[in-house]
Amino acid sequence: MNSMKRIVLLSATDRPSSKALEIAGYLKKKFEQTGTSPEIVSLEEYPLELVAGGRYGADIPEVAAFNERVINADGVVFIVPEYNGSFPGILKMFIDYLPFPEAFQNLPLAFVGEAAGAFGALRAVEHLQQICGYRNALMFPERVFIQRVNQNFDKDSGIADAKANEFLDSMIRNFSDFVSEYRHTELV
Ligand SMILES: Cc1cc2nc3c(=O)[nH]c(=O)nc-3n(C[C@H](O)[C@H](O)[C@H](O)COP(=O)(O)O)c2cc1C
Repeated sequence: MNSMKRIVLLSATDRPSSKALEIAGYLKKKFEQTGTSPEIVSLEEYPLELVAGGRYGADIPEVAAFNERVINADGVVFIVPEYNGSFPGILKMFIDYLPFPEAFQNLPLAFVGEAAGAFGALRAVEHLQQICGYRNALMFPERVFIQRVNQNFDKDSGIADAKANEFLDSMIRNFSDFVSEYRHTELV
């Protein structure tokens, strides 16, 4: 039942060798076990130079192609690091160049926060959720926060803290089911 569902794992930073991308790799293996079709998209690949100077409303095929990889998914998991008490600027740039108003309309979104610090990007995810709410996304309620990510996350075994790893497994399972059930129904 989950087999046709395409879930994008969005690594929400352009920082080379980021933990976000490492976590996306771990999530990909986990989502494959739920029978969905996960695909990693990294904001490292975002064509930032083509929007420099304020190209709002311009027809930029490379930006449209990048956007479509994300918004044509059946569900999107944002993997969000905390930068300066919020989410990375490149992610806001990506959102500001999405088609308005429809891009996130009724699109299932889930959130994994991760940070070097003790709060696991709680602030970053909550800031992002404010924006996704404004854009009428369908936000999945189970969020996961990875604290002190440099010590607590391993690309093969996941989060060192057993309870947090259980939350992550639960989110993966339940978000896969949620996407499958929700995306069966045609929207009116
Ligand atoms: C510009 C910048 C700002 C950062 N600000 C914070 C912060 O506010 N809180 C925090 O816990 N970690 C902060 N960090 C550290 C990141 O949490 C750390 O790089 C971690 O590995 C997760 O980010 P990554 O996915 O880029 O690897 C910051 C990192 C950068 C590059």
